[in-house]
Amino acid sequence: LKEIRIGLLGCGVVGTGVIEVIEAKKEYIGQRLGVQFQIQRIAVRDVLRERHPIVDKQKLCLHWSDVCTAEDVDIVIEVIGGATVAKDAVLTALRHGKSVITANKELMARFGDEIRQTAAQHGAFVRHEASVLGGIPVLSTLETYFAMNQIRGLRGIFNGTSNFILTSMHQDGLSFEEALNHAQVLGYAEADPSMDVDGIDAWYKLQIILDSLAVPQAKRVGPSATGIRGISPLDVYQATQENAKVKHVVTAKWDAERDVVHCDVRPQRLDASDPLFHVDGVLNAICLEGDIVGDITLTGPGAGAYPTASAVLEDLVKVVQSQAARSR
Ligand code: NDP
Ligand code: HSE
Repeated sequence: LKEIRIGLLGCGVVGTGVIEVIEAKKEYIGQRLGVQFQIQRIAVRDVLRERHPIVDKQKLCLHWSDVCTAEDVDIVIEVIGGATVAKDAVLTALRHGKSVITANKELMARFGDEIRQTAAQHGAFVRHEASVLGGIPVLSTLETYFAMNQIRGLRGIFNGTSNFILTSMHQDGLSFEEALNHAQVLGYAEADPSMDVDGIDAWYKLQIILDSLAVPQAKRVGPSATGIRGISPLDVYQATQENAKVKHVVTAKWDAERDVVHCDVRPQRLDASDPLFHVDGVLNAICLEGDIVGDITLTGPGAGAYPTASAVLEDLVKVVQSQAARSR
């Protein structure tokens, strides 16, 4: 088996999940691809912190450059988060010719163009399926299926933590704080949960999806994102009384004549006839309106260690296949 050496940046919820799924799928990966993924180096903030037993502490290091510039690392997986350290690390890895897989929405929403350009200049690949809607293959679907279909509109639930909180308020009568705490314990929330509950994370995901569409970029207009912080138990109670639910909804609607896309990210009251009404807990969904195909809805786990690690692993395989195709 050909050994592919992985440098992991971050070993928290997602990073640990990535190590676990690579280990769990070791034999299958060997049979299907003829390769073996070897976690070579792992950069973390605190090498002394207690970790899952699957993490080989001998591989831990404190500085990302020991991963991104290392000769014994072939591909880098970035799961630190944020757009400071992660940006420097990803750009450095790409400049050293290493392909990168990232789950980082802030990074890709704010610096996606620079990252893609740097990758192209250095013959590296960059993939980031896990940066939008966790385990749902949105970017792959847009890439492979929506090449000819033009998107007229999209709607969805893009933040697992917010949906989990609203569902817990509706179904279990939890307070906002209790539900957020639960989402944090389950590993769904961002390190700074205001990204989730103030709508910023969902806004970033919308920008990444718009960036990925293979059509000329229309001007994006709309109010800034509103999150769920202002939703009270009374709002939830009143919605329930009318057989409705409060959901955090992302909308983008194209105005072809003016070449603009109207973006909206805010809580809305939905009734049972709305497909998003039934998307509860940590699930996310996206309803895409294509001009040929009509409406397509994708639903699945929007956050959590394994769904996110699944998206990272699928990207890893695609990078290996792209590299193999290029060297043929
Ligand atoms: P965590 O906070 O659980 O993990 C972050 C990791 O990064 C930790 O291992 C931490 O080290 C490490 N780290 C932080 N700063 C540095 C630094 N300066 N140098 C080296 N390592 C550092 O985050 P998650 O795993 O939840 O999320 C990671 C990324 O994945 C984020 O971009 C997030 O948005 C994204 N994501 C998360 C999902 C989820 O469900 N959690 C879903 C989809 C995407 P240490 O362990 O020592 O503290
Ligand atoms: N914090 C994010 C969420 C993780 O809850 O949706 C997945 O991107």
